[in-house]
Amino acid sequence: MNKTVLITGGAGFIGSHVVREFVTKYTDYRIVNLDALTYAGNLENLKDIEDRANYTFVKADIRDAALMMDIFRQYRPEGVIHLAAESHVDRSITNPTDFVMTNVIGTVNLLNAAKEVWKGEYVGKRFHHISTDEVYGALGDTGLFTEETRYDPHSPYSASKASSDHFVRAYHDTYGLPAVITNCSNNYGPNHFPEKLIPLCIHNILHNRPLPIYGDGKYTRDWLFVIDHAKAIDLVFHRGKDGDSYNIGGFNEWQNIDLVRELCRQMDEKLGRPVGTSEQLITFVKDRPGHDLRYAIDATKINQELGYRPSVTFEEGLGITIDWFLEHTEWLEHVTSGEYQQYYEKQYE
Ligand code: NAD
Ligand code: DAU
Repeated sequence: MNKTVLITGGAGFIGSHVVREFVTKYTDYRIVNLDALTYAGNLENLKDIEDRANYTFVKADIRDAALMMDIFRQYRPEGVIHLAAESHVDRSITNPTDFVMTNVIGTVNLLNAAKEVWKGEYVGKRFHHISTDEVYGALGDTGLFTEETRYDPHSPYSASKASSDHFVRAYHDTYGLPAVITNCSNNYGPNHFPEKLIPLCIHNILHNRPLPIYGDGKYTRDWLFVIDHAKAIDLVFHRGKDGDSYNIGGFNEWQNIDLVRELCRQMDEKLGRPVGTSEQLITFVKDRPGHDLRYAIDATKINQELGYRPSVTFEEGLGITIDWFLEHTEWLEHVTSGEYQQYYEKQYE
């Protein structure tokens, strides 16, 4: 094998697409997927590639500092792509400490392990930290987040991600660790866990359940197809500049209410239901505390420096996503049994 790349959180939504991209594209890399398999981690996401010779799964928790050190000593990765995190804003409002432990302490544990094992020999090494546009806070009706936008997180989730970004930069600036950060907008696509807006609505439309819209539904997000995020990560991992950060987005803003209406339209068409059927399920519910009004990414830097551009339009991406969920109802039923039911009742009822 040419090199070993450790991908954390590879059993989750985005991580599973990154693992697949790397395992299939770089057959000369050994890909080690490190994941604790929390409620959000699911090895079913990787069934199609789990037998590949260049793929290894390690069940481990990034909060365990000693274990991270052992794993780095055992596998000696040249590259790290760090996605493992608690990722849902609503859960961070209920359990903020879990987000500090995994997103902040877990990240520092990985940084320490990389620093210890690489011992200042940084040629050919890379620590790629996957972050979010939420670290920049909320925009008003105009403007875009650039890489220079001041950090201003509002939720416990975004505060924990901002903190982890600061630690990654600090390890670069203090110890010379070859690190790079990407800050991406909202992803959607196959394997998206149905606690997030799009898959939750797909699941509820299938079951004729209410579609909960927080507040007035005028909140705006910038949506990117998950496979396009995985391709951007590949580009930055291989060609990004040490110490830099890159914003990733789709120049694709939607108000939540318009997005859910478009989803209802496409679902009705695909399910052969009369036009307007699913829209009747839309229900305005209590707002999310500290809800950020608008996120929108300026992706000029990654476009100009690395030639990045999303490969699908939103309409195409949403169509592929809905088709995937319609073809994988068993996956949906597996992930919505057990813990999900209790979470859903507490959050919405
Ligand atoms: P996800 O919740 O679907 O998956 C997270 C994965 O991390 C799961 O497989 C889980 O088992 C694993 N994990 C959680 N805690 C762990 C721990 N303590 N030790 C080891 N593994 C652990 O998340 P996602 O949506 O795929 O997001 C992945 C990364 O991308 C996160 O860092 C998130 O902040 C970032 N991000 C997400 C989005 C988005 O729209 N989903 C956008 C930008 C950035
Ligand atoms: O911007 C990137 C971020 O996008 C990632 O860092 C996070 O990990 C990811 O979860 C996502 O955060 P959001 O909070 O934007 O995603 P979510 O799908 O939870 O919500 C999208 C919008 O929809 C937001 O304005 C809240 C609203 N919403 C969400 C849910 C779950 C509703 O109106 N009703 C809902 O039931």
